Amino acid sequence: MFAKLSLFSLLAASALAAGGHGLSYDNIDKLATPGAKALLKYVQSQYGLHSISGQQDIGSWHWVTENLGVSPAILGSDFMYYSPSAVAHGGKSHTVEDVIEHAHRNGINAVVWHWDAPTCLPDTAEQPWYSGFYTKATCFNIANALGNETEYNLLLRDIDAIAAQIKRLDEANVPILFRPLHEPEGGWFWWGAHGPAPFKKLWDIIYDRITTFHHLHNVVWVCNTGDPAWYPGNEKCDIATIDHYAQAGDHGVLADKYQSLKALTKGERVLALAEVGSIPDPTVQMQDKIDWAYWMVWNDEFIKDGKHNSREFLDSVYNSTRIVTLDGPVKVTKLLEA
Ligand SMILES: *[C@@H]1O[C@H](CO)[C@@H](O)[C@H](O)[C@H]1NC(C)=O
Ligand SMILES: *[C@@H]1O[C@H](CO)[C@@H](O)[C@H](O)[C@H]1NC(C)=O
Repeated sequence: MFAKLSLFSLLAASALAAGGHGLSYDNIDKLATPGAKALLKYVQSQYGLHSISGQQDIGSWHWVTENLGVSPAILGSDFMYYSPSAVAHGGKSHTVEDVIEHAHRNGINAVVWHWDAPTCLPDTAEQPWYSGFYTKATCFNIANALGNETEYNLLLRDIDAIAAQIKRLDEANVPILFRPLHEPEGGWFWWGAHGPAPFKKLWDIIYDRITTFHHLHNVVWVCNTGDPAWYPGNEKCDIATIDHYAQAGDHGVLADKYQSLKALTKGERVLALAEVGSIPDPTVQMQDKIDWAYWMVWNDEFIKDGKHNSREFLDSVYNSTRIVTLDGPVKVTKLLEA
């Protein structure tokens, strides 16, 4: 791990950081740790040259390694079961352990937070507590909560619980790509159920609580919307991403979505696909200059069913000189040592 961090730092310190797009802006958090700075610089360095492969969920990550013989560079994990509502219902998580282990194998970590609503979870057979991040599974109303001291304090309690986990990562010198409040414009998660204003306030609260209150700076902040009404702004996002689930087996490169996200961010942010079902074709991406910096396949059937991504397609992707992996033709370490 320490070897990795020093390699990251070496890269960040050199002029190698500017990738195909020449983007090399600083972290939005001016106090970002050397690890968080190096992580952002590394993603920037690949943007336009390669796409960094990613796989959500440690079980599915191992499936790729075992079945394709190559390991995804990014491991996607979830803070979901550290949410206090989840813990109260017996939720248990090994995310921090998984993240640290992946950092030890020189991997990059991306963490999302399916935030079980702080209160008002009916926990019925139809809407069980572990679905408590869905709008339909909770009566928690974010617009009201921001003006209700009790509920506001519950929001802070929950953010503090996640900050405690981020602190464990900080103590292990592990930076993460952190993607809270994802897919807000869909409205299917409670943080997006009452329009952009409360969502944007909550984004600011999370950022301030983690950086200013808890003094945690091992985070690269990943925004996750392509909707101008919901985008927090470049000054609040290190990386701009969207999620997209095409029809199974459709490996289109999402050119329209790429161009509109590029316009929204004025070409000043690295763009990536934080969740996909079928992987955008690396060869077409190169030909059409649709430079998603990374993509992450969602877990289980999306990677395993042979329909979203056929075995033949996966073999070619994971053996592509356009794709960064841990141990395929283009390796994270090789690039860092280059
Ligand atoms: C504030 O939130 C608490 C806890 O959910 C609730 O019991 C109370 O009725 C709310 N107060 C107002 C004025 O809505
Ligand atoms: C990967 O690509 C190389 C070079 O094109 C080829 O020789 C090799 O057989 C491929 N490996 C797999 C597992 O597809």
